[in-house]
Amino acid sequence: MTGFSFTLNATDGRARTGAIQTPRGEIRTPAFMPVGTAATVKAMLPESVRATGADILLGNTYHLMLRPGAERIARLGGLHRFMNWDRPILTDSGGFQVMSLAELRKLTEEGVTFASHVDGSRYFLSPETSMEIQRLLGSDIVMAFDECPALPATHERQAEAMRLSMRWAQRSRDAFGDRPGHALFGIMQGGVERDLREESAEALRRIGFDGYAIGGLAVGEGQEAMFGVLDYATDLLPADQPRYLMGVGKPDDIVGAVQRGVDMMDCVLPSRSGRTGQAWTRRGQVNIKNARHADDPRPLDEHCTCPACTGYSRAYLHHVFRAGEMISGMLLTWHNLHYYQEIMQGMRDAIAAGTLDAWVADFHATRAQGDI
Ligand code: GUN
Ligand code: ZN
Repeated sequence: MTGFSFTLNATDGRARTGAIQTPRGEIRTPAFMPVGTAATVKAMLPESVRATGADILLGNTYHLMLRPGAERIARLGGLHRFMNWDRPILTDSGGFQVMSLAELRKLTEEGVTFASHVDGSRYFLSPETSMEIQRLLGSDIVMAFDECPALPATHERQAEAMRLSMRWAQRSRDAFGDRPGHALFGIMQGGVERDLREESAEALRRIGFDGYAIGGLAVGEGQEAMFGVLDYATDLLPADQPRYLMGVGKPDDIVGAVQRGVDMMDCVLPSRSGRTGQAWTRRGQVNIKNARHADDPRPLDEHCTCPACTGYSRAYLHHVFRAGEMISGMLLTWHNLHYYQEIMQGMRDAIAAGTLDAWVADFHATRAQGDI
């Protein structure tokens, strides 16, 4: 397809670094995508998100179809214009969010009917309607419509959901059609069952996509089980196309996923935890609510160059959190997103230099020292 391509620049072990070219700009990989569910990365201006180093944001079909509606966004010039972010946007397809947020769900071969968590009104999502909504939004990377079963799930239940997702993947591919400059990614399912992951990868490769996501992970199986799947799952996907691990994760999850050949990730964690007083630093997690910060004149991280760390003390960050001031969420979100992007840049540089193992050893050693 024209206007969308993936180039690998270097590999180190199974880890890869490269870039996805799109008409809206380059996405350096491995990439972390901040989550902008409701047409905003909460507590951040788009230019601030960009300043942290993000090349691409994630948006959500489910939330935007309910409020303010995909047709309205299309009339207003599309999601990029609407939210004032002119770089690439990837949109999730809605099925995953329907299963976790919507009410009165009814799933059939055709699709899912559900009641909005906002006002209870009824909606229908299918591969065809999800492709249409993502087209109206103007998404650059469109995700196939899938079903991710809730855990615990038996092998039989996982097989059923995966096979439905593969039929929906074919319908997504057919409905998406040929849209130069826009990409369609398939989503692998199968839980932690190797035979199902293999069958899913084979089905997706047969259909053919511009990139391949690994879904159905980080849903409560734990890091060891997730890494156990990633140990083989990335190798089931084409080496010359991007691989996207959906909904991951904590900093050490991201590092482990990149070591196992993942190119893209998204997670609400840095932005969500920024609004609940949790900071992620080189030395691990810091709870700014903790009384030990009340008199501390030092920054959150003396090595960090973000606005929260260059302009403010831990004592101030503690105070504004306790006082419920909006700047608290703004500063901690900025710091967390900056830290996540710093990890990604560090890994991209280390992969290019062939020194990822040493980078990862230092990452773990610094965390092991703890926050002091
Ligand atoms: N986000 C996190 N996991 C998933 C998944 O399995 N499917 C979709 N569509 N989105 C996700
Ligand atoms: Zn910082």
